[in-house]
Amino acid sequence: MTDPVASQRPLQDRAPTSETIVLDLPADPPADPPADDSTHFGYRTVPRSEKASLVRGVFDSVAGRYDVMNDLMSFGLHRLMKRITLDEAAVRPGHRVLDLAGGTGDLALGFSKRVGRDGLVVLSDINAAMLGEGRTRLLDAGAIGNVDYALADAEALPFADASFDCITMAFGLRNVTDKSKALESMLRVLKPGGRLLVLEFSTPVLPLLERAYHAWSSTTWPLMGRLIANDADSYRYLVESIRMHPDQDTLEAMMQAAGFERTSYRNFTGGIAALHKGYRL
Ligand SMILES: C[S@@+](CC[C@H](N)C(=O)[O-])C[C@H]1O[C@@H](n2cnc3c(N)ncnc32)[C@H](O)[C@@H]1O
Repeated sequence: MTDPVASQRPLQDRAPTSETIVLDLPADPPADPPADDSTHFGYRTVPRSEKASLVRGVFDSVAGRYDVMNDLMSFGLHRLMKRITLDEAAVRPGHRVLDLAGGTGDLALGFSKRVGRDGLVVLSDINAAMLGEGRTRLLDAGAIGNVDYALADAEALPFADASFDCITMAFGLRNVTDKSKALESMLRVLKPGGRLLVLEFSTPVLPLLERAYHAWSSTTWPLMGRLIANDADSYRYLVESIRMHPDQDTLEAMMQAAGFERTSYRNFTGGIAALHKGYRL
């Protein structure tokens, strides 16, 4: 049952209060679009200026348990999707790759092996805790010499025009306040001929699958979050943010509106996730 008062409080203020596990589960998504100066943070409507810090609160909270929770919630499937993303990116030795919202660095690690000593991978994220986890992980894995780290907001990338052959963003775009602005920023820093790959949760193609997936994720993910990371609210946000994210065709149209060409997408697991691709020509 949703407690409307609890859902208005910042995530970090909502500590568990009793021995019994009482979960504040996602209700129904808001029907109306937010007003101009507002946006959605999960199902909540918040001032646009506040969303980034609310998202930061989520990832500050989950950073230390992010990888284990990812494996548990997806049964390891995110690894397969990322491997396919790496293959589809088709980067070559010497390429320059930007992994945006790269978090703990799964894609960046794969790219650092593929671009070789003459290439460069920039692991970038808006969140210092997530970027720190990623940096530690890549250093532990021996990814040294061709990896840089950048604390950056996808909406205002601090790189020169035409800097990268490839940009990836895995499970990050739905957290961004102004997605169109972020896509335009990505286009700007891509070289002509360069490609963008966006891996993100999406909309299941079969209504029955959508209902089953939603029923399962909206109950088990906050529960797992509560039991494993002592944080149900961040995982409730995860469920809500997925449902609020544009579907496959809408996201493809947004990429085209931002200036990407030869856009396409492929679904994973019946549309639970999708990989969008587009080029700067
Ligand atoms: C679900 S994690 C994905 C991490 C990694 N790409 C992966 O697939 O495992 C989402 C990441 O998006 C980052 N993020 C959220 N808003 C962002 C923004 N505006 N610009 C850049 N990164 C952002 C978060 O800090 C977080 O690390």
